[in-house]
Amino acid sequence: MAPRKLAAGNWKMNGDLAALAEIDALVTAHPAPGCEVVICPPAMLLHPMKARAGAVIALGGQDCHANRSGAHTGDIAAGQLKDAGATYVILGHSERRADHGETDAMVAAKAAAAHAAGLTAIICVGETESQRDGDETLTVIASQLDGSIPEGATAANTVIAYEPVWAIGTGRTPTTDQIAEVHALMRERLAGKVQDAAQVRLLYGGSVKPGNAAEIFAVPDVDGALVGGASLKAIDFGPIIAALAAA
Ligand code: PGA
Repeated sequence: MAPRKLAAGNWKMNGDLAALAEIDALVTAHPAPGCEVVICPPAMLLHPMKARAGAVIALGGQDCHANRSGAHTGDIAAGQLKDAGATYVILGHSERRADHGETDAMVAAKAAAAHAAGLTAIICVGETESQRDGDETLTVIASQLDGSIPEGATAANTVIAYEPVWAIGTGRTPTTDQIAEVHALMRERLAGKVQDAAQVRLLYGGSVKPGNAAEIFAVPDVDGALVGGASLKAIDFGPIIAALAAA
């Protein structure tokens, strides 16, 4: 059985209470059965968004701390995200790795905390442009996967997102052959490391738009997308969800 498809929206540091209207539009447009949809807004929007998203759209955080609670000013625990309505959390996004110095080991510790709190971790990996130019892509992805996935990861509690750093927010995307090559490597690497590796959702992320979604979703082992800019407006994210449901 193919893994259940997932369209994940990463709002990053965008959105406010007025933007909740986008959720109303998505709830109306979402063709429910074909795929699952999750929106990961800034944490303060989780609770009010939950009231609008209901059971149609799942919610997620964009980061969590590795500890359950304590003196960590400005951080959020996985259990707090859950309490606010999240069932997912994005971890190890390249912007967190770059802006906050997050290492693979830190990402693995956060993912373990997410699992302990009952959240599904969306663990991000991806090469920089110079790594791709230097032919290091597969080595980099393999080592990020090995280091960022904690013990106890399963297809139910872990999603992997392949996001080439150079494709994020740039309008550039890898070729479908390049995406296929990385996703095949990821599937193979997960076997032996994760229970039910064949069922782990593997997302592609980086400049996914309504115009390129169908082509990307036709790539083998692409089970969905992690979408940044195009997830902010229902008019863009709706067609991406529809393309995934139809794939
Ligand atoms: P983008 O971002 O879709 O705006 O390129 C993707 C991401 O960073 O998850």
